[in-house]
Amino acid sequence: MAVVSTSLTGAGSQLSGHFSALRKSFLKLDNSNSNSTQSFFQNVDSHLRLSSSRKGCRAVVTMAGSGKFFVGGNWKCNGTKDSISKLVSDLNSATLESDVDVVVSPPFVYLDQVKNSLTERIEIAAQNCWTGKGGAFTGEISVEQLKDLGCKWVVLGHSERRHIIGENDEFIGKKAAYALSQNLGVIACIGELLEEREAGKTFDVCFRQMKAFADAVPSWDNLVVAYEPVWAIGTGKVATPEQAQEVHVAVRDWLSKNVSAEVASKTRIIYGGSVNGGNCAELAKKEDIDGFLVGGASLKGAEFVTIINSVTSKKVAA
Ligand code: PGA
Repeated sequence: MAVVSTSLTGAGSQLSGHFSALRKSFLKLDNSNSNSTQSFFQNVDSHLRLSSSRKGCRAVVTMAGSGKFFVGGNWKCNGTKDSISKLVSDLNSATLESDVDVVVSPPFVYLDQVKNSLTERIEIAAQNCWTGKGGAFTGEISVEQLKDLGCKWVVLGHSERRHIIGENDEFIGKKAAYALSQNLGVIACIGELLEEREAGKTFDVCFRQMKAFADAVPSWDNLVVAYEPVWAIGTGKVATPEQAQEVHVAVRDWLSKNVSAEVASKTRIIYGGSVNGGNCAELAKKEDIDGFLVGGASLKGAEFVTIINSVTSKKVAA
């Protein structure tokens, strides 16, 4: 498997320092409690989600964030009525770990078909939406229409829309703000191009994209951040677990400094870019990787299920 080796080590070690400061600040939250030992364990407990779903597994120990593991399948502009019906039936018959939020994102034209045939266990995301209420906007799809079909989420800021269609930060921010105002969850994608990584600008780009979301959105309650390095999307060049973790830590740290420690802890930061059945377990072990956004591998039912169930890599045997 090809791996992009450009490292961000210098800046990264600085950032892990910042992030340990963030963790310390979680501990500080309980400083007012007179029993500091008890308070430490209460704090740890609230950040390490207990799992009762699997015998022999005691706890999720590699979660820095407090949110539930989240896996999205982005089907992009793929599929036919027949292939989608087969994929839905594979997903319907699969056994999914209980402590994972699962979402699939079919092309618009198949949203209704999928909503009407897919198990309620899996929620539906659209791949785009308009910036406001519907009306005279030829070719666009409104948030109201997506909700009418039963969509719970929308993917925004995906690199294919940024770099192929030409959407900019402000336009994407507007869409996110409107979707959230109508209670449609947002999977907010960020990520750098290869040349930006090679020029040492990974954090600058991700923070700029994060700021555009932060400036626009009314709340982070219903928003999942997807870090998707553009050089890893659809290329087979997956980020190493260390490369992904490094950026996720930085993004969580950015949230802590620019929004709040609470939002930093509860916002899921998922990784996307050539995730597959073979690499998901190692990625999932990283403490700041709270799930995945999966393209190509989400078109194969069994492989997508393996990725969903990689949440078990976060657990230790009792
Ligand atoms: P990929 O796509 O898994 O095919 O690389 C990821 C994405 O675009 O969300």
